[in-house]
Amino acid sequence: MSDYEQVASVGEIEPGQRLSVFVDDVPVLLVQKDDGCYAAIEDVCSHDGQPLTDGPIADGAIVCERHGAKFDLKTGKPLCMPATESIQVYDVKIENGAIFLRPLSGEVTSCNHPTAANTVVAAPAAPKSIPTDGEPVALDVSESSEDENDESKSIDEKMIEALRTVIDPELMINIVDLGLVYSVNHDGKNAYIDMTLTSPACPAGPQIVQQAKMSLERLRDVEEAEIKLVMTPPWSPERMTDEARDHLGIF
Ligand code: FES
Repeated sequence: MSDYEQVASVGEIEPGQRLSVFVDDVPVLLVQKDDGCYAAIEDVCSHDGQPLTDGPIADGAIVCERHGAKFDLKTGKPLCMPATESIQVYDVKIENGAIFLRPLSGEVTSCNHPTAANTVVAAPAAPKSIPTDGEPVALDVSESSEDENDESKSIDEKMIEALRTVIDPELMINIVDLGLVYSVNHDGKNAYIDMTLTSPACPAGPQIVQQAKMSLERLRDVEEAEIKLVMTPPWSPERMTDEARDHLGIF
């Protein structure tokens, strides 16, 4: 059985919320139910590959918005047509304030509430710098924290932290440190993001844009996020943070 993989910190998700993460390059939807229990399920409908990301969740199941297939969150089994094949579910482990997932065969039997005992230590440090050359970069970034309740942080900082949870599935680096986010603005509870892709034909583009929007709309300070894709200036590796370049072996 494969090892647990850390995907998030406890502070990144609250009851009633969901978070898009990756385990072994597979998109996974991490859900914290209203009672505080976590569930994690492959974020790909077995009928036709549609993400389940925004699908309604009720009675322990998630519905694919495309054609209505429903999957049991504990087993991954399809509960109605048109899906006929199960999708992967994951065991959730909470340790030292971090959330770990591991593929599971069979049924999820534990709940894994975050408790005082397992949420003591905050999770992993985020990369520290963002390149600011080129136009139109307008990011104001400081050290990140996973706690959106931290009142010392501005809305822009919280939005940047939220965008850091969105991972480019090809490069496995978050979109902020990849340099894909050009500007972050807000007007009341509306967020406006200008961002780009590593190439105009990036096949993961729609998924990245959708996840960026969702990551922002999970914030208490944001009701609606508008993501505008811009291709000028074009993305180049120089836009990445040092940490991202190190990760890719670019010096
Ligand atoms: S893609 Fe999910 S039901 Fe068709």
